[in-house]
Parts: sequence; C-alpha cells; structure tokens
Amino acid sequence: MTLYGIGLGPGEADLISVRGKEVLETVDVVYSPGRLSRAVATEHVPEERIGDLDFPMTRDEEKLRSAWKEAAAEIAPKAREGDAAFVTLGDPNVYSTFGHLRRTLDAFHSDVDVEVVPGISAMTAFATALDVEIEAGAGLSLREADGGAAPTGPDRLILFKVTDAPETARKLDEAGYDVRFGRRLFMDAGETVITEDPAEIDERDYYTLAYAERRDLDTSSATDEFEVETTMDESETTTDERGGEAATDGGQQ
Ligand SMILES: C[S@@+](CC[C@H](N)C(=O)[O-])C[C@H]1O[C@@H](n2cnc3c(N)ncnc32)[C@H](O)[C@@H]1O
Repeated sequence: MTLYGIGLGPGEADLISVRGKEVLETVDVVYSPGRLSRAVATEHVPEERIGDLDFPMTRDEEKLRSAWKEAAAEIAPKAREGDAAFVTLGDPNVYSTFGHLRRTLDAFHSDVDVEVVPGISAMTAFATALDVEIEAGAGLSLREADGGAAPTGPDRLILFKVTDAPETARKLDEAGYDVRFGRRLFMDAGETVITEDPAEIDERDYYTLAYAERRDLDTSSATDEFEVETTMDESETTTDERGGEAATDGGQQ
C-alpha cells in the first residue's frame, strides 16, 4: 500500500486539490507535522483518523534525526498494512518536513511506496495575494531570510521565513530593492497582512514571506503600447466632446 505526501495549499481549507481531498478521505490514517496543518486536515477528515507525531521545534540535527526516525517507524507499518497520508502546508516538495520524512523512509523503510499529491505553494500563491505578475521570461529566485537576513543578487526574489521584517526590509532597501510582505496569505488561521511597511509586521510570525524586486528593473512589455492607444483614444474623445460630435454615433445623438 502507499504513503501519500499531500500538499494542503497555503491554509484555507478549500485550496487543497480535488485529488488531495479525495486521498485524505480514503486513507486509514493522516499524519501532520504541526498544529496548522492538522487544523486544515481536520476540515477534511475526522479527528479520530489523525495520527500522532511529535516534531520538536529545534535546529539540533541530532534531535531532528531522531524525531524523523521515530516518525518513519510509526508511519511505515501503517503504509504497509493500508494507506496513510502525511500532510504539509503548501507543497510537500517545497521547503517541507515531508522531504526529511521521505529520505528517512528511503534509508530505513525502503519498501514503503510513496506518492506525492502537489499543493499550491506559498511560492506561487504570493503572486495572487500580493497582486504581482511574474511575466513569461522573468526570473524569480526562492531564498530564506531568517533572522533579518536579506539575500540579494537576482532581479526578483521570493523570501521565506521572514522573521525580522524591519531588518530584512532595511537591508533590501539599501541594496536597491522594493519590498512587499505577505503574512498568513490564504490562511484561515490568524490575520492576513499584506504591506510595504515592515513596521506593521514587526512581531515575529513564521508564516511571513517577502517579495523583492530590483528598483531599476526594466518592466516594459508588449502591452505597454495599449496605454499609448488608450491615451490617444481618450484625447480624441475629449476633442469630440468639445466639438460636440461623438465619433461613435456619427454625431446623431
Ligand atoms: C518551511 S516553508 C514551507 C513552504 C510550504 N511547503 C509551501 O510550499 O508553501 C515555510 C515558509 O513558507 C512561507 N509560507 C508558507 N505558507 C505561507 C502563507 N500562507 N503565507 C505566507 N507565507 C507562507 C513562510 O515564509 C514560511 O516561513
């Protein structure tokens, strides 16, 4: 049988994929790495089908390795006897606990079949939430900006784990970037904040990202021509109005 890695999307329950929801409804047990992913999962499956796992909030690699080994040892028999799911917010293959779990299963329980159902990642959801268009041909880099870090270089950056927004904003501004922040985007839990002012989100919240774009970026596109046409149309209409003759109805009002 199978362990399904299921992407829940950014946090609103109805942003899971149809396939993800169907799998959740049919597996025997659903594991989640944290409180928020558990809250989304319980919108789709009853509490009694949610399994227990403990992932410590630590950077100590020894402790993390032992937590992943324990998680893999709990999940492996369930995925041999029947079907199990491990849910993550966003996509299971983007900066996710699922990656650690899958590698641990590969190492110690390699007979377990694993299948992934993708989810809407914050990496793409930010574009809609912040009303940013990443045009065809434009480059976009994903980086981490923990503890006030501010990676620079690429024209456009999406930064995860923004825990000190004022410091990250200050450094990016100095490096010549315009920055916008998004907190708890498309999430049911907590308040969604979208802002250019880092002072509005100076309290640490793990579910915060930033989009940075070089100030001197050439953003011209083929459709810019439409603005010229619209401006010309508008000035013609104004002239017609002044002359009392509308171009559209041949002046027969
Ligand atoms: C460990 S990564 C997990 C990414 C997730 N697997 C995905 O595909 O979206 C966590 C980081 O993603 C960003 N993030 C995830 N969901 C978010 C949301 N709904 N709103 C804002 N940022 C989010 C935050 O920067 C957070 O620190």
